Parts: sequence; C-alpha cells; structure tokens
Amino acid sequence: MQITELSGPETALSEADVPEPEPSHLLTPGSGVLVDVRTAGVSFPDLLQSRGEYQLKPPLPFVPGSEVAGTVRSAPADSGLSAGDRVAAFPMLGGWAEVAVSPEFLTFSLPEELDFRQGAALILNYHTAWFSLVKRGRLAAGETVLVHGAAGGVGTASIQVAKGIGARAIAVVSSNEKERVARDAGADEVVRSDGPWKDQVKELSGGGVDVVLDPVGGDRFTDSLRSLAEGGRLVVVGFTAGSIPEVKVNRLLLNNTEVIGAGWGAFVMAKPEVNREIGAEIARLIGDGTVRPIVGAHFPLADASGALKLLDGRGATGKVVLDVGGDAQS
Ligand SMILES: NC(=O)c1ccc[n+]([C@@H]2O[C@H](COP(=O)([O-])OP(=O)(O)OC[C@H]3O[C@@H](n4cnc5c(N)ncnc54)[C@H](OP(=O)(O)O)[C@@H]3O)[C@@H](O)[C@H]2O)c1
Repeated sequence: MQITELSGPETALSEADVPEPEPSHLLTPGSGVLVDVRTAGVSFPDLLQSRGEYQLKPPLPFVPGSEVAGTVRSAPADSGLSAGDRVAAFPMLGGWAEVAVSPEFLTFSLPEELDFRQGAALILNYHTAWFSLVKRGRLAAGETVLVHGAAGGVGTASIQVAKGIGARAIAVVSSNEKERVARDAGADEVVRSDGPWKDQVKELSGGGVDVVLDPVGGDRFTDSLRSLAEGGRLVVVGFTAGSIPEVKVNRLLLNNTEVIGAGWGAFVMAKPEVNREIGAEIARLIGDGTVRPIVGAHFPLADASGALKLLDGRGATGKVVLDVGGDAQS
C-alpha cells in the first residue's frame, strides 16, 4: 500500500506491486531483519503523512507503516533472531506491505501471550509510553498520573505502563465508549474532557497529580498545568486536538512545576541500547500481565484508507491494525 499523493485518507493511498526490500535498513546500512508481515499498525503519524503534515516526508510514492508483527524471514547472524521467529518490529516506513525490513535493535521477540494484532500495537505506543512516563516524566511507584486521550493508542499504553510501575492512573476521555476502553486498560479513575475534569482530578488526587501525560494538546493545556501538584511534571507527547498550546511560564514558577517534551523517535532511533532497555522493560510488563495491547479495530490491508478515516474522525479506540497476510490472531 503506497501513499501516492498528499491528499488525505480518502484518496492518498493506492495498492501497488513493488520489489521486495533487501535486508538493509536506512539506520543500519547493509544489515536488517526481513519480516514476513502478518499485521501492521496504524497510527496518528500515518494519518498526518497522508496529508504531508508529518515531520518525516519521504519522496512520493512511498509505502507508509512504521510498525509490524510477523515472522522473521532472515536476520543478521549476531542478532539472536532466527528464521520463523515471531517478532514485533519497527521498520519506521514500509510496514504496510507483505515484507518489511527493520533494524535489528528495533525488532523484538513477540511473546506467545500476544497475538499478531497485539504485536503490531506494541512498539510505537508502549515504547513511547515508557519513554514519556519514566525516562522523561520520572513517574515513580506510588505517584499519580493524569492521561489525556486515554482510550487512544498512546493513552491505553500509558495507563498500562503506569500501572505496571505501581503508579495510579486517572484517565480523561470524551465518551461512554472511550470510558469503557480506558477502564479495560486499567484506569483507576475516569473523568470526561467535556466536564469539570480539572476540579475532579484535584479532588481524586488529593490536591494535584504528579505527572500529566498529554498526547492531545489544544486548549486543555492550561487546566492540565493547574492539575499538577507541587513539583509536578507535564509531559508533552502530541497534538491530536490540532493546535499547539503555549505556556505562560509564570505558572511554572508559582507551583514549582515543569513542562517536558517527549519525542520518542527522535531520541531513540540512533540509540540501540536505549531501545533494548525499553524493550526489556516492556517484555517484563507483558510477563507480569500488565501490558496487553487493546486492539480496537482491524481492517484488511486493501482498506487502509478506512483505518485512517477512523482515526481522522476521532473514532479509534486502542490500536487500529491492518491484517496483511496469514493468520492475524495466532
Ligand atoms: N512524542 C512521541 O514520541 C509520540 C509517539 C507516538 C505518537 N505520538 C503522538 O501522540 C498522539 C496520539 O497518538 P495515538 O496513536 O494515541 O492517537 P489516537 O489513538 O487517535 O488517540 C488520540 C486521542 O486524542 C483525543 N482527541 C482529542 N481531540 C481530538 C481530535 N480533534 N481528533 C482526534 N483525536 C482527538 C481522542 O480522545 P478523546 O476523544 O477521548 O478526547 C483520541 O482518543 C498523536 O499526536 C501522535 O502523533 C507522539
């Protein structure tokens, strides 16, 4: 599936026959893991790419798709991976295809507890959640985190990671259906984005939360700052609401708070050891049962446009996945 024009989810995509990739990735020239793709993840950046609005702008036409799950066709000798292994992989681009190539340090064993659809939901959202909450936001056991967009991909992953490290999670969502999803993900409390959520959060947290995880942005930002306890940290992850908020820095001084940027991709792409470290933490949380990706909808690869439209209409819950080849649920 290629993006052939930057005209948005309805018309940007076309199916094409293209040569299979060589076992060489942009980040590891001359080396790479070839993956027979079962499922591919669909994420907000793919939607932005269909309009040419994402920071990564490959020349047209290109195969989008940053993450996949499948089986190894071939892997470098020293990678610890062998043909036939079940993996979750992050090719960065080229995932919406039958064969993809990923760097060895962004290819992780897919445990038996997860099926291939869940595998396609594992890297972007869960690594971002760990990076944002723990490495950037310094969230610790016993603290409370407020998660915006909590029924979405990054949101559900952040709730599970927060629970996995022993923190308490308060979710902000916009509908009954999304409240159910946030609770399924493990949220301790759920408040509504169209209600008096700031005051509710202050009450539920006994005066303020330690961390706010914000993939939404827009005009709720100031109330997020007001929801922080003394010493609290607001972690900026994305702007699905469409506008980029500005902060009056006197607010930070008054209550000794911080606003922290979290750009997972920009930080980790050239750092194999950080990816392995985060991969090991996520594997641990899969093992103890806290990480179980929530797949809200799945589409055949041929209907990738439908998947993008679901995200565009704010209708997605959990992760949206494309079924590419073979059994997606084994
Ligand atoms: N910084 C990083 O490293 C990093 C990594 C991955 C993703 N991201 C970013 O994180 C953001 C979330 O990604 P995602 O995959 O979790 O997206 P998603 O699954 O579509 O979830 C986004 C949530 O945003 C909320 N939202 C509020 N206003 C919206 C609007 N006008 N349109 C759509 N959604 C709206 C929705 O929740 P309610 O309806 O409940 O409000 C929705 O559930 C994106 O901006 C993405 O680019 C950043």
